[in-house]
Order: sequence, then structure tokens, then C-alpha cells
Amino acid sequence: MMSHVDFDDYLLQMTVWWRSLFPLCYILSCVQLYCASSQVPQKAKYNYSLRLTRLTRTGVQRLLNTYNEQQLGNKDFENRSLRLSSLPLLSTEFDSWLRLTDWERLRTASWDLHTYWDMLERKRKQLEGAEGEQMAGQQGQSTMTLLQSIKNIQLDLRDLMKQVSFQMSHMNSSSVNPTASTPSQNPPPSYQPPSNLTWASRVEGYIILRDLNLYLIKLARDFLLLASKIQL
Ligand SMILES: *[C@@H]1O[C@H](CO)[C@@H](O)[C@H](O)[C@H]1NC(C)=O
Ligand SMILES: *[C@@H]1O[C@H](CO)[C@@H](O)[C@H](O)[C@H]1NC(C)=O
Ligand SMILES: *[C@@H]1O[C@H](CO)[C@@H](O)[C@H](O)[C@H]1NC(C)=O
Ligand SMILES: *[C@@H]1O[C@H](CO)[C@@H](O)[C@H](O)[C@H]1NC(C)=O
Repeated sequence: MMSHVDFDDYLLQMTVWWRSLFPLCYILSCVQLYCASSQVPQKAKYNYSLRLTRLTRTGVQRLLNTYNEQQLGNKDFENRSLRLSSLPLLSTEFDSWLRLTDWERLRTASWDLHTYWDMLERKRKQLEGAEGEQMAGQQGQSTMTLLQSIKNIQLDLRDLMKQVSFQMSHMNSSSVNPTASTPSQNPPPSYQPPSNLTWASRVEGYIILRDLNLYLIKLARDFLLLASKIQL
């Protein structure tokens, strides 16, 4: 039978042996890995959203040039003083942007993406109407290509909306308001009867695409910030 002192010695030896096999840092890293494993997918999701945002922006830049060339007769058309009040405000104070909670950031992204999707839908319908009315041959063909490019951007925006909606439900699974985050539940924008697009209406398309391009830069920053908050 071990004496009291012997037993203490034995315990100490065991502890040392145990420590040498499983150093504290190893144990800590196991705990960390365990915690991180539930966060890696979320970080990867933000990563995906970030890449998708950048890809979409590249597409928007290309479309903006094509649109300007076709509809305004100048690839490099630019007029910064032109604004549309129905588009999301692009200039936000850095401090208030930084102070947004993750939830507010995602909710705002969801709203803004919806707005751009709707604006593109309205513009696309207008162009389609004008195309059906009077454009033919070569010009009709390039308008069709333009319409398809707008549609592709809309698909990307919808994909982004789905990502944001997923991230919101991941963050808050019990109380997500489905109408606030599901893209397909918005009422379709009111249909514009076919007519020649006026200059003002054409310029509107330029403003939408120009602001969408800038907006996607801002959105990429949002995803970068969201991803950076998930530490491994
Ligand atoms: C995110 O993407 C970058 C490359 O774009 C990659 O280097 C990094 O490992 C990715 N991170 C995660 C968590 O997927
Ligand atoms: C920009 O648009 C505004 C408002 O329509 C107009 O008054 C101004 O002349 C335009 N500027 C240029 C450089 O075309
Ligand atoms: C969950 O959603 C509600 C609204 O549906 C919101 O007010 C609340 O802040 C959300 N909670 C979190 C943790 O994001
Ligand atoms: C569109 O414009 C052309 C030329 O400017 C004109 O001949 C045609 O009648 C217009 N169509 C409509 C629907 O306004």
C-alpha cells in the first residue's frame, strides 16, 4: 500500500508524464480547432460572397462600358452630378459604418441588393419594350446582347442575396423575416409600356450601373470586415 507521500509523488509523476504527452498548447489547440470547426464554413461563406461580389463588379464595369457606348454613344460617358434618389446612399460615415452590427450590415446589404435588382429589372423591361417597338437588325442584335448581360448581372445579384440571406439565418435562425431576405418574394416592378427611350431614361441606366459598381466595392468591404471578425 502506498504511503501518502508516495501517492503524491506518483500523482506528480503522472502529471508530468501526461503533460509531456499532451502539452498544454496541444490541448489548447484541440479546443481551438473544435471551436473553429463550427466557424470555418461561415468564414468560407463570407469568402465566397466576397469573391462573388468582386466577380459581379467586374461584370458590371464591362456592362457599364457597353451600355454607355450603345445607349449614350460614348463608352466613357461620365457625369458625377447625375443622381437617382431611389438608389441606396453610397457615402456613409466611416465611423458609423464600422459601428454597424453584423446583423445590421447583412440586413442593409439585403435591402440594397434588392433595390439594385429591382432597378435593373425596370430598366431591362424598358429596353426590351423599346427593342420590340422599333429596333431591328444589327442594333436589335446588340440590344439583345445588352439585355442578356443585364440579366446575368441580375442572376449574380440574386446569388448574392441568397448568400446574405443564408448568413442572416445562420446568425439568427429563429426570427429571420423571410420577406426581408428572400429575393423572389418582391413584387415585380411595374411594367413600362414600350416606347422610345428618352435621353433621360437612357441616362438613368448609366446612373444605376455606375452606382452599382461603386456599391459592390462597398459591399466587398462589408464581407471583408465580417470575415475578419471570425478569428480562428
Ligand atoms: C479565402 O480565400 C482566399 C483566396 O481568395 C484563400 O487564400 C483563403 O484561404 C480563403 N479562406 C477561407 C477560410 O476559405
Ligand atoms: C451633368 O448633368 C447635369 C444635370 O443633367 C447637367 O446640368 C450638366 O451639364 C452635366 N454635365 C456634363 C459635363 O455633361
Ligand atoms: C434576430 O432577428 C431580429 C429581427 O427579426 C433582430 O431584431 C435581432 O437583432 C436578431 N438577432 C441577432 C442576434 O442578430
Ligand atoms: C421612336 O423614334 C422614332 C425616331 O425618332 C420615331 O420614328 C418613332 O415613331 C418613335 N416610336 C415611338 C413609339 O415613339
